[in-house]
Amino acid sequence: MTVRTTPDLSSKDPDWWRQAVVYQVYPRSFADADGDGLGDIRGVTGRLSHLAALGVDALWLSPFYPSELADGGYDVADHRDVDPRLGTLDDFDAMATEAHRLGLKVIVDLVPNHTSHQHVWFQEALRAGPGSAARDRYVFRDGRGTHGALPPTDWQSVFGGSAWRRVPDGQWYLHLFAPQQPDLNWDNEEIRADFRTTLRFWSDRGVDGFRVDVAHGLAKDLSEPLRDLGATEVSGEATLAGLPPGSHPFYDRDEVHEIYRDWRAVLDDYHPPRTAVAEAWVQGARRALYARPDELGQAFNFEYLQTPWDATELRQVITDSLDTAAMAGASATWVLSNHDVVRHASRLLLPPGTDDNAWLLSGGHAPAVDPVAGLRRARAATLLMLALPGSSYVYQGEELGLPEVADLPVEVLQDPVWEQTGRVRKGRDGCRVPLPWTRTGPSYGFGAGAAWLPQPESFASYAVEAQDGVEGSTLELYRTALRLRRKLLQGEGLAWADDALPGVLHFARHEGWRCVTNLSDEPVAVPAGEVLLTSGPLEGGLLGPDTTVWLGG
Ligand code: NOJ
Repeated sequence: MTVRTTPDLSSKDPDWWRQAVVYQVYPRSFADADGDGLGDIRGVTGRLSHLAALGVDALWLSPFYPSELADGGYDVADHRDVDPRLGTLDDFDAMATEAHRLGLKVIVDLVPNHTSHQHVWFQEALRAGPGSAARDRYVFRDGRGTHGALPPTDWQSVFGGSAWRRVPDGQWYLHLFAPQQPDLNWDNEEIRADFRTTLRFWSDRGVDGFRVDVAHGLAKDLSEPLRDLGATEVSGEATLAGLPPGSHPFYDRDEVHEIYRDWRAVLDDYHPPRTAVAEAWVQGARRALYARPDELGQAFNFEYLQTPWDATELRQVITDSLDTAAMAGASATWVLSNHDVVRHASRLLLPPGTDDNAWLLSGGHAPAVDPVAGLRRARAATLLMLALPGSSYVYQGEELGLPEVADLPVEVLQDPVWEQTGRVRKGRDGCRVPLPWTRTGPSYGFGAGAAWLPQPESFASYAVEAQDGVEGSTLELYRTALRLRRKLLQGEGLAWADDALPGVLHFARHEGWRCVTNLSDEPVAVPAGEVLLTSGPLEGGLLGPDTTVWLGG
């Protein structure tokens, strides 16, 4: 494995991202400065000191662009503006300036697969009619069957139901996500040129990098006749694994890489070059292609997120992830939580094979998750993740140990998944409940009024205020871990200890830093070395179940 020298985290280092810790801000749920119940950009600015004190290297903002919120902001009506409810471009500039002053890089979300149906392009396409240049920016087709009354193919939306919707003149348009998110046609040069403009727009404003939404979906095989998938399951993504690589009609096609090579030329025009990370639900070596240095540079590793709490499986996925990242010339990425999945303080305690949706529909009762046990495991998982070579993506609130809010009443659900699946899948609102900053107040310090999703009373004890300066709190654990990590970080190497007991993960980053996690049910001896940090108390000098220790030389 390549061992690099000590990373230089100064602002001009072109490799700053390789081992960075990136904090994901979901803007509508982070902090609400104007008291309308929805988080906003000035809310982010006001709380940047929390991120600086935490010790992360960068923040990634989920979309804050104009949007009717049909998909929590991933339905973008204008890629080069700020939603008026969240602020203005001046607010954004002030936020970025303050972040840079505090030594934090800024990454923004780019949503190139689709726009909002409110985007001027889509509105124009609806007016312009079949065969027009405006329609060619999207994927419009005639239907099948008598009078074209059937959708052009059997393709299914990720959110449930057909991926096609009919417009009044009889044509159909493609939407791999919500109907309010029409897919763009990336064969159209105008789309390519416009996204280059968007990359420059934010890069010129000082943005340091981009998180690319649905990076594996842009290139589509739109040659006639369009091919049916014959899929019976709801998401086309599930068929990917069963098809020869690159042959799926709309996911992970080889042509998608031309787009990213084109973007890299734009990103490399800046100093330091702008970074990019692919959100691509693609496995192993295929995923690594997105992370090549002449493309995006990094790709999220969702295989790690999806691995159950099991030492053998985790060791395998860590080894494979490091190998595939190295093959691509990238650094590995690690994610435990984000705005699309059940928070890891709850998820990791669910028995393997649990259907997350069934669990959410049970209000988090079947099976019940003990929050204390869940937090113990989450803290152990976090110290394990933060010891791995590469960059870690931390989702807002995990530094507080927040569990999933599994019992949100269905009347308050906002995620389109709920309605679009005919109220079968509960969706992702349980991990998007606004953050608690204070122990009291109408929304626990999130804002001056009630938050857009109700917070449970238990949030009071997780608030930043309740944990700040409290020895042993999860917030202090993250702060200490990130401070230590910065000091300990050297190369990107990892060596597994040969003598680890079953159920124990033990590896050395280098002589001065080793990480041991006990995933077994029994306490185990702590290997020799100076105890630098533990995720939970050592029991009589032993490493208890669901505990991680960092050891020095
Ligand atoms: C992935 C995003 O993370 C998710 O929240 C969104 O719904 C889809 N892409 C569609 O943009």
